Amino acid sequence: MGALPGSGAAGLRPVVVLGATGSIGLQALEVAARLGVEVEAIGARRGSDELLEMARRLPDSLVGVAAPTAEERDRLSAELGSRVEYGAGAIEGQARLPGVTVVNGIVGSAGLPASVAALEAGNRLALANKESLVAGGPLVENALRKGGGELIPVDSEHSAMFQCLAGEEPGSIRRLLLSASGGPFQGRSIEEMADVTVQDALAHPTWAMGRRITIDSATLMNKAFEVIEAHYLFGVAYDDIEVVVHPQSIVHSLVEFADGSVKAQLGQPDMRAPIQYALTYPVRSGPPPSTLELAGRSLTFEAPDLDAFPCLRLGYEAGRAGGSVPAVLNAADEVAVQAFLDGRIGFTSIGAIVEKTLSEAEVRPIGTIAEVMAADAQARAIAASLVGSSC
Ligand SMILES: NC(=O)c1ccc[n+]([C@@H]2O[C@H](COP(=O)([O-])OP(=O)(O)OC[C@H]3O[C@@H](n4cnc5c(N)ncnc54)[C@H](OP(=O)(O)O)[C@@H]3O)[C@@H](O)[C@H]2O)c1
Repeated sequence: MGALPGSGAAGLRPVVVLGATGSIGLQALEVAARLGVEVEAIGARRGSDELLEMARRLPDSLVGVAAPTAEERDRLSAELGSRVEYGAGAIEGQARLPGVTVVNGIVGSAGLPASVAALEAGNRLALANKESLVAGGPLVENALRKGGGELIPVDSEHSAMFQCLAGEEPGSIRRLLLSASGGPFQGRSIEEMADVTVQDALAHPTWAMGRRITIDSATLMNKAFEVIEAHYLFGVAYDDIEVVVHPQSIVHSLVEFADGSVKAQLGQPDMRAPIQYALTYPVRSGPPPSTLELAGRSLTFEAPDLDAFPCLRLGYEAGRAGGSVPAVLNAADEVAVQAFLDGRIGFTSIGAIVEKTLSEAEVRPIGTIAEVMAADAQARAIAASLVGSSC
């Protein structure tokens, strides 16, 4: 797509942190502070106490709130005055501020319009919101081409591949080897996962993340999304993207080249490292967020079990089908994961509901955000009714 590394010089631009109150957002603010980078704007969904507190600590930053309650709106406006704006348009406006790096740490397909806006405005997009590429890959590609912005992946696996590709010819890629921790249920059969609890599924062995991605890591849907993300970022066919289970999460991913040579990128499981790289790229600078000691460690690799984790298979199928199908995959999963977190369905019903939604939803071409959102809305309605009938 053009997420292949180039050699242009880049200063440390001010940052806009979208999803500022989330796991990625908080780490992005920490990295920005350590690098001495100005925070030009912060955005979130709600006008929470946490966001208000953040706005107090960053008195020069604009504040965007996508969906505040009336009470939150009154409270924020009274204290922040004209530096706070509301609605999805405010978040997109922040993404279009000139000359910034936009860290997109929004969760879900709600992050797509901001990704498109950032790239159309010619900004650097430090992309954590993988759903942008899953739901709207072709739109993100177009925005990158049209706006001349830069797309730097923040997802640790894609940052790893991006780093492995520095100085390489795009045509020399033979295979992408995408690392997966396997999540908390690695090694279990699907029957052995029937009764797992929300707490079991939220107990990720190596990464501390937001709730949705943590559940997606347990079903391997997160890896399914990452396969689609890698396809769009690096222009590699699905047949040439292989998932390898690596429970220690030290080798973040690997790239195999035409001559059979394989490059890997290693580090502690620490999202501050790929965030920092996305802000400083192409330079490596700033203090290391964490350091890796290899002595005494064993690194293991195995193939994923597609029978136990059907979501990974669904990801390949949806990616190959293209059009609205990956958007349906994501939307159905958002609904099913929320239903699982709310205690309305069991863990293994997540994949079953997504699969049934994929078989029922219309397949349409997607060329605009409105078309993506229409497919997303239809999939949510189907998935919600499947949740209702399975309760
Ligand atoms: N966490 C990780 O380590 C990690 C690693 C790799 C990739 N990612 C990806 O990064 C993204 C964020 O994940 P996370 O774990 O940081 O999620 P999270 O902790 O749940 O945080 C989500 C953030 O998005 C905001 N948000 C939700 N809907 C929004 C909207 N419509 N407009 C603006 N902001 C909105 C939330 O605001 P409120 O607090 O107001 O609801 C919150 O700040 C996901 O796409 C995930 O797959 C995360």
